[in-house]
Amino acid sequence: METLDALAKRASVRDYMNQPVPKDMLEKLVDAGRRAPSARAVEPWEFVVIIGRAMLDKLAGIISTGVFLKQATACIVVFCQDTKYYLEDGSAATENILLAATDLGLGTCWVAGDKKEYCEEVSRLLGAPEHLKLISLISVGWAVREPKQHKRRTLSEVLHWEKI
Ligand SMILES: Cc1cc2nc3c(=O)[nH]c(=O)nc-3n(C[C@H](O)[C@H](O)[C@H](O)COP(=O)(O)O)c2cc1C
Repeated sequence: METLDALAKRASVRDYMNQPVPKDMLEKLVDAGRRAPSARAVEPWEFVVIIGRAMLDKLAGIISTGVFLKQATACIVVFCQDTKYYLEDGSAATENILLAATDLGLGTCWVAGDKKEYCEEVSRLLGAPEHLKLISLISVGWAVREPKQHKRRTLSEVLHWEKI
């Protein structure tokens, strides 16, 4: 799939089939994540891939905005060291993973990490040391149906030439 097609096709998926995602695909997603741009080339990220049902269910129970992790067959958790640009770097890595997943025909949804009240509990559950910041949790799986495109602000609304 061309990059621009993947960009246009990506949409959040929250309903997944009960069918595992092959490990090599999950590795490809993390490989896409680690190729993201990183301020000062620090690459502060660490990726935890979860495929165990018990842990996915536990996370679904903790994260009020991620209850659909109960259905997902995998979750990629993005952590970053506490660098100046940790959030930008971790977000770039997260978006790379979403786009790579679209390219592979997988469904994903970005679940909030940074600033959420469950950060500490999630970090503790996953054995993450205190200096790592939770950026995002990406649910991964095979979509039950083609996701609907979210209604977006139009190009003419958001594009400004020379001045806003
Ligand atoms: C920083 C960030 C945090 C998000 N957190 C959640 C979340 O916790 N739960 C959820 O269901 N969706 C979450 N989303 C997904 C957005 O709801 C979704 O991207 C938005 O509604 C647009 O829909 P689309 O992804 O289908 O284009 C998050 C997205 C971003 C960028």
